[in-house]
Amino acid sequence: MLRQPVPPTGEELTYVGDDDSEFFRHVHGRSLNTLNTSYLLPSDRDEVKRSEYHHRMLKFVFGGQNYVGPVREALQFGQQRRVLDLGTGGGLWAIEMADEFPRAEVIGIDLAPIQPRDVPPNCTFELCDLDQRSIPYPDGYFDLIHARSMFMGIHNYPRFLREVSRLLRPGGLVILIEPDLTPTIDPSSPAVSSQPDASGWFTFWETYHTCLRRQRIDPTVPQRMADLLVSTGMFENIVRREGNIPVGSWPREPVALTVGQLQWMDYELLLPALRPFFLTVGLPETTVRSLVADAQHDLYHPSVNLSCRINIVHASKRL
Ligand SMILES: C[S@@+](CC[C@H](N)C(=O)[O-])C[C@H]1O[C@@H](n2cnc3c(N)ncnc32)[C@H](O)[C@@H]1O
Repeated sequence: MLRQPVPPTGEELTYVGDDDSEFFRHVHGRSLNTLNTSYLLPSDRDEVKRSEYHHRMLKFVFGGQNYVGPVREALQFGQQRRVLDLGTGGGLWAIEMADEFPRAEVIGIDLAPIQPRDVPPNCTFELCDLDQRSIPYPDGYFDLIHARSMFMGIHNYPRFLREVSRLLRPGGLVILIEPDLTPTIDPSSPAVSSQPDASGWFTFWETYHTCLRRQRIDPTVPQRMADLLVSTGMFENIVRREGNIPVGSWPREPVALTVGQLQWMDYELLLPALRPFFLTVGLPETTVRSLVADAQHDLYHPSVNLSCRINIVHASKRL
């Protein structure tokens, strides 16, 4: 499996062998990456499982597809068909795209080698910190760039978007997908008028916001992605969609019910996954314990119908 860094710049290649322990460190009981020590979500089996739930949930939202927007058009252009998945996590999106577009070359980049090794021949994973260095590919190399649920690892999102623009060929497509970090209560929730209480849940997310800001990560990026794309001056046909994702088993309609259950399973894994983050940024152990326990209580015994918002933006690089 080809790894770090990548060929077009002429830099030396490294392969991740059977012993990949140098890419992982143990922090507060979880395994985290070593490439970017300020990214404090785990890189381990539970986190891969969580990104799998997230992936499957979004496929239901997208009507069984892996994408929204003019992806087929972007990949029918000329001879080159290159797809880049930034912050690929467990790599499921990249693998499924490689299967769906066998003539495309699909590359997934992440901070840690947590992807499977048995992958389609047109799919490769590489290691690179997208926050600290330019992405080692030439200008205009890619037709499609996808970045999903990874803004928490990027301190300067406008700079990141300029880099995305550099890597795209003119007319190439970018797809950005980020869930809001502000939870909501579904307006149809029967309990809203009587007792709108999910205080443990809301406190958890407010604390996450505060700690991200302390780490110089802007928690409002998900809602501002379209504006940030406009600000680069490099994109056109910018389409923004947002939607409500139910959390839990309260929806009646079957697809919404499945989406809600998958999102619930994602959050069940996310709550403990944020322990290393909260502890490392300086919250006391006792605070973190009750923060997680109170949020878990509201997730397991909801007094209201929890939901969250997802932000989806796609745009073409100007010709
Ligand atoms: C929450 S997971 C999402 C995975 C996948 N995109 C998905 O939607 O299922 C975020 C991933 O982004 C990666 N990531 C975060 N910051 C990164 C950075 N600065 N450079 C490279 N990868 C990064 C993390 O290692 C993690 O695997």
